[in-house]
Amino acid sequence: MSSIAEPIPMAAHRAGRLSGQAQVPGDKSISHRSLILGALAVGETRILGLLEGEDVLATASAMRAFGAEVTRHGDGEWSVHGVGVGGFAEPEDVIDCGNSGTGARLLMGAMATTSITATFTGDSSLRGRPMGRITDPLVLFGARAVGRTGGRLPMTLVGAADPVPVRYTLPVASAQVKSAVLLAGLNAMGQTVVIEKEATRDHTERMLRGFGAEVTVEQTETGRTITLTGYPELSPRNIAVPRDPSSAAFPVCAALISEGSEILVPAVGMNPTRTGLYVTLAEMGANLEFENESDEGGEPVADLRARFSPGLKGVEVPPERAASMIDEYPILAVVAAFAEGRTVMRGVGELRVKESDRIDAMAKGLEANGVDVEEERDTLTVHGRGAGGLPGGARAETRLDHRIAMSFLVAGMAAKKPVSVDDARPIVTSFPSFELLMTGLGASLVNLRE
Ligand code: S3P
Repeated sequence: MSSIAEPIPMAAHRAGRLSGQAQVPGDKSISHRSLILGALAVGETRILGLLEGEDVLATASAMRAFGAEVTRHGDGEWSVHGVGVGGFAEPEDVIDCGNSGTGARLLMGAMATTSITATFTGDSSLRGRPMGRITDPLVLFGARAVGRTGGRLPMTLVGAADPVPVRYTLPVASAQVKSAVLLAGLNAMGQTVVIEKEATRDHTERMLRGFGAEVTVEQTETGRTITLTGYPELSPRNIAVPRDPSSAAFPVCAALISEGSEILVPAVGMNPTRTGLYVTLAEMGANLEFENESDEGGEPVADLRARFSPGLKGVEVPPERAASMIDEYPILAVVAAFAEGRTVMRGVGELRVKESDRIDAMAKGLEANGVDVEEERDTLTVHGRGAGGLPGGARAETRLDHRIAMSFLVAGMAAKKPVSVDDARPIVTSFPSFELLMTGLGASLVNLRE
């Protein structure tokens, strides 16, 4: 997280109309993958629009530690001189992934089939998150892992000297686990197969193909089956990172609930495995338009226009949509608080093992701000206040979680009384320009430490 030692409490006051263009940063998932795949290719990969959030910067440092040459040329403009599949060097020191589960899990996958040893750690949020879901399949390739009780970081991974390919059915819907297995499969001779019951974000499959690997995807009775042929020679490429739909969600939702607002978010990634929030918002009656739909480097993009939407209605969000909006439930819970009636989010148990327990963090923070919420093991129900509006007036705990911090600040932009968060520092992990961008649209954010 931010190098500032003290927490930064921050409050959002109701400011009324938001307007203008929101240039949200590059996609976090694609940014991590660009650096990792660039490091596994032979030659120079050029990246434009890389997210320069702390999560991704930690992955850039890790790639240097594994022997790749990673250079920043300007705003979001980076190059990676890769070492080739199987070419990683052994890092001299512990790899610190900061707050990033994606960084830790993808890096562990990428090194698991190279005969080197590396130790991974992270901040207290990441050190509390389960890593057994990654090491279970990596051990099948021949790697060995020793971590703390419950499979927590710090953890040392000894890469397989003689890796064998693996056929693995994902026990949880997780693009991180799927990606770790595919990245490990690169350096195992033969075919590595991953089967997922629910489709999760497919950036790894798309990008592996873009770098020249042989990847096939078919829908079978058991699920979506991805087959990767090992030992490809990955060729470097130029990557334009689309803007992050998960970051766009914050200004978009702020506009939907702030009277008189109209904003435009240009060139947002619209990969269908990521757009569940926008489907749900449309069902609730949100005034959203998608303009200039096009393709950027194998990923669909569009300009997103959002207008104030009075009369939003609560909905039931089906469990099969969870994977396509897994990071957006916190901000959906805020929009639901402004809607008429009940919003029920089912099948969201995975939220309990994100940067924080997001079901509990949202439930507690919304209740403190005057909203009735029901929290079950894998269901979150928000009783919308409709025309009554959100009372606000309380502080929410962000628990080292960027999306919890941004969600409650968005709530405060339209609540009757200001909503504050105890610590806004985690926001830099994924959206360093959040404060500047939101105030540029007309939001009123007050740093309570200054
Ligand atoms: C990500 C996958 C998701 C998501 C995370 C990014 C990725 O995690 O929550 O923010 O880039 O693969 P899970 O795979 O654990 O669901």
